This record gives sequence, structure tokens and C-alpha cells, in this order.
Amino acid sequence: MAAPALMVPCHIAIVMDGNGRWATKRFLPRIAGHKQGVDALSRCVKACLERGVGVLTVFAFSSENWNRPSDEVSGLMELLVVALAREVPRLNANGVQIHFVGDRQRLSPKVQAGLAQAELSTAVNHRLVFNVCFNYGGRWDIAQAAQKLAARGEAITELSLDRAMALAHVPDPDLLIRTGGELRISNFMLWQAAYSELHFSEKLWPEFDEAALDEAIAVFRTRERRFGQTSAQVVGRSSTQ
Ligand code: IPE
Ligand code: IPE
Ligand code: MG
Repeated sequence: MAAPALMVPCHIAIVMDGNGRWATKRFLPRIAGHKQGVDALSRCVKACLERGVGVLTVFAFSSENWNRPSDEVSGLMELLVVALAREVPRLNANGVQIHFVGDRQRLSPKVQAGLAQAELSTAVNHRLVFNVCFNYGGRWDIAQAAQKLAARGEAITELSLDRAMALAHVPDPDLLIRTGGELRISNFMLWQAAYSELHFSEKLWPEFDEAALDEAIAVFRTRERRFGQTSAQVVGRSSTQ
């Protein structure tokens, strides 16, 4: 009899933190760390494809990251455009559908056009949904969803809010990873992470490799997800299925 396939989280979300420290440790400018971070992300997408993950959502630029020095902010905007030009053909070749999640209004016309073009050219792909949260904040998402409902005169319920969220096209994350050793959420997926399993890695994002991803998935497999029920109920449910 074939061994049962090991469970892989359907949706993995990652706060990619530690690029700046990675660069500073090497006496490099912080932007060098962000460049390495793009390479780590490219490897992570490939690893998720190989492991059969359905959705990968990453935090690339937060609503609060505008408060960084202006040269770092402009460097990140430039890096986004360059990375898209390089990576979109590869995403297409691998069946990856990219989405940008966040407030685009504050982004330059050039960046906005790059995002729209990347989404359009990968829209028919279905192997992996890849969400890049850029100028995103969990609070922004909840507020924009509430504003949408108010404008339509719709009642605010958990279901209607859920459907109006910028991440409504994917299920909630099963596993939420943060690299870089900080034990906080930093305004990421405040609504959707209600029942995500959390995993904090000491590795700085540019060093986060396949082994580190496998470790996070292995730890996830040991967790008992109860969603408010008792352990006995959960065990009973899985043994009768
Ligand atoms: C995460 O790495 C990337 C962004 C927030 C854009 P950081 O730039 O926050 O790296 P550290 O935390 O300073 O090391
Ligand atoms: C969170 O990292 C945002 C991203 C990874 C894009 P930060 O480095 O901005 O978080 P704080 O400031 O340490 O909480
Ligand atoms: Mg950081």
C-alpha cells in the first residue's frame, strides 16, 4: 500500500522580514538585502509549486513602510518594477497567477502599470495563486471593505465583510510564517489570520530556503487545529472521515 500523502497547507502566508539586517551584517546597503530577498522569494515560489501549495501570499511592502528613508522607499519601488520584468516570464512558464493586494492609488503610474500588466499576463494560470501584498495593511483592508459595503448600502456582517476584502479570492491562510525573529504580525492579514497556525523563524528572509520552508510545514503538520472545538471532537471527526 502506498504511504498516505503528507498534508501540505493549502495557503501559506509569509511576512518576509530581515532583508535590512541581512545587508547590514555584510556592510552592504539595505537595498542589497531587498535584492537578495527577491531571489529568496523566487526560490520560495518554486518550492511551493513543487510541494503542491495552492496559494502563497507574501508581505512585500506595508502601509507603514512609507515611513522609511525616502531612498529605501524609492529603491523598493524600482526593485518591484525590475523584479516583475525578470520574473513574470518565469511565473508564466510555471503556471503561476499573480495578484497584487493593497492600495495602488499612492503608487506611481509606472508601478501601477507594471502591476496591472503582470496580473493580466498571468491571469489564465492555475497551478499556484501568488498574492503579493504591496502597500497593504490589514487595517486598510478591513476599512476599505467596510467602505465598499457602506457605499453599496449593504449590511455589515462577517460574511459580507469577508467577501469585500482584497483577499476574498483565496481561502484564509492555514500557515502564517514570519522570518527575521520578530514575534509580531505588523498589520498583516488581521482578518484572515484568525485561525492560521503561526510559525516564527529566526532566519532572515534572504536566508529562508527550502529546508526552512519544509521545517515550517513539518511543524504545521504537528499542530491540532481545533477552530474552537475540543480535541476529542477534532480527533473523532478525522477518524470518521
Ligand atoms: C522586510 O525586511 C522587507 C520590507 C519591509 C520591505 P526589512 O527591510 O524590514 O528588514 P529588517 O527588519 O530591517 O532587517
Ligand atoms: C513587516 O515588516 C512588513 C513587511 C515584511 C513588508 P517590518 O519590518 O515593516 O515590520 P516592523 O516594523 O518590524 O514591525
Ligand atoms: Mg523588518
